[in-house]
Amino acid sequence: MSSTSLRSQQWFGRTGKDGFIYRAWMKNQGIPDEEFRGKPVIGICNTWSELTPCNAHFRELAESVKRGVIEAGGFPVEFPVMSLGETLIKPTAMLYRNLASMDVEESIRANPIDGVVLLCGCDKTTPSLVMGACSVDIPTIVVSGGPMLTGKYEGRDISTSDVWRFNDAVRSGDMSQEQLTVAEACMCRSRGHCAVMGTASTMACMVESLGLSLPSNAAIPAADSRRKVLAQYSGKRIVDMVREDLRLSAILTREAFENAIRVNAAIGGSTNFVIHLLAIAGRMGVALELDDFHVNSAGIPLLANLQPSGKYFMEDFFYAGGLPVVMRALGDRLHGNCLTVNGRTVRENHADAVTWNADVIRGIELPFKTETGLAVVRGNLCTDGAVLKPSAASPHLMKHTGRAVVFHDIEDYHARVDDPALDIDENSIMVLRNVGPVGYPGMPEVGNMAIPRKLLEKGVTDMVRISDGRMSGTGFGTVVLHLSPEGAVGGTIALVRDGDLISLDVEGRSLQLLVDEAELAARRSAWKPSHPVAQRGYVQVYQQHVQQAHLGADMDFLRGGSGSDVMRDSH
Ligand code: FES
Repeated sequence: MSSTSLRSQQWFGRTGKDGFIYRAWMKNQGIPDEEFRGKPVIGICNTWSELTPCNAHFRELAESVKRGVIEAGGFPVEFPVMSLGETLIKPTAMLYRNLASMDVEESIRANPIDGVVLLCGCDKTTPSLVMGACSVDIPTIVVSGGPMLTGKYEGRDISTSDVWRFNDAVRSGDMSQEQLTVAEACMCRSRGHCAVMGTASTMACMVESLGLSLPSNAAIPAADSRRKVLAQYSGKRIVDMVREDLRLSAILTREAFENAIRVNAAIGGSTNFVIHLLAIAGRMGVALELDDFHVNSAGIPLLANLQPSGKYFMEDFFYAGGLPVVMRALGDRLHGNCLTVNGRTVRENHADAVTWNADVIRGIELPFKTETGLAVVRGNLCTDGAVLKPSAASPHLMKHTGRAVVFHDIEDYHARVDDPALDIDENSIMVLRNVGPVGYPGMPEVGNMAIPRKLLEKGVTDMVRISDGRMSGTGFGTVVLHLSPEGAVGGTIALVRDGDLISLDVEGRSLQLLVDEAELAARRSAWKPSHPVAQRGYVQVYQQHVQQAHLGADMDFLRGGSGSDVMRDSH
């Protein structure tokens, strides 16, 4: 691409009053005139926020990106977008993923930017930035913030998955409040995002497997100096991507999405991967359906021995060689010819990858587990599907029939779960509704409901749990999630009553409510929605337009893209 055809020159290349205005105000930052004369302008889309602790180091990371941009002859401009911190935002960060994506999309399109570097970290900051960028489709590269160092508590390794274990231990009396406070300071002991294969790490692997980042982006710890080196190289590379006019649409092909699904199966990635990848595909106009996850995961063994499915942490994953080793091990199971942001193919990028710890990253011949990363089930309880992560589930519950114990919403669950009078045993199936996209609203990560205290005290560690919500990527258990359609829009989960029999058969891909059709029809005609409905603002728009989980929970009017042209062009 020649310097005169750069998008940014529609602003900075102008003469007269308009060009004066576009440049003059920028010059108040001490920018010399030559920066505006044909250098690729690189936006650094920053989700830095002290309210998003996983991304709190991003200003420093942005400086490394800038060094690379300048080195390659570009003009870097950093800009903030809405940042979504998983741990603080109420009612749930997922409610705002689509809003943040709108911020990103409009910020990129509205400004004189030729290429963009997306700084992503905490769970939702990756999909929201990628979704927004896809709807503009200019040259784009992702730099992830990197995982935290492994936590250390009482001489052992800990990380986010231990939150659930600590919670159960405190509830069963095996851990004191004082011990819990000590553990709190031991877990998040460095910059970075959650240090297991939770959603943030899954998202970082997703962008790398899609070809949207430089190789090794996913696993370098945030505190490792090589994270900054990768950021600098990414800054350098995006300038060349602009010159080559290498856009997202050249990288995000149907084959690239299939690669991401297969890699996700091999790493035991989060169930949230499904929702976010569907939403990204929707922005790119790539036809991707829930069943594609099942089909493409089938036959891919779990290679990464990482929590929550396995033993190790993201730090160990990096020292063992990281995602390139997994991608190399998958060999012909991946579409090797897919193009990536560095201009090389998937196959070329990983040809020389070496495993340094064969217990952390196993080979195809001797995998960590043979179960695939994600299973999709269907039945009268979820006519549009539901997902489950077999690698994090209990083998003895993969085929199970039990009595339903129904919680009408999350408040009902909290009020009754530890009631000694609750009629429940280890064979029961816990059902939680009104936690879907519309019903909560925002589809929170509450699907891996904690087990009732009285059962925990009996030593029960897992039960079948079913909901129209999501689960934290750090969670585990035999948890069926994302039931679609959700209860709030009349899905069958809204009709389940205490004592109904439910049958789960993961191998048979089935989830059935064993109640006859006539009875269900009678219940359906008596049913009325009872979820909270927002009366104004963004949440009202969200509830009116959000799509169901099997479509990625994006808003209907955000699917697809509008390109990089601005709608009107006069000052
Ligand atoms: Fe930010 Fe886990 S809370 S990645």
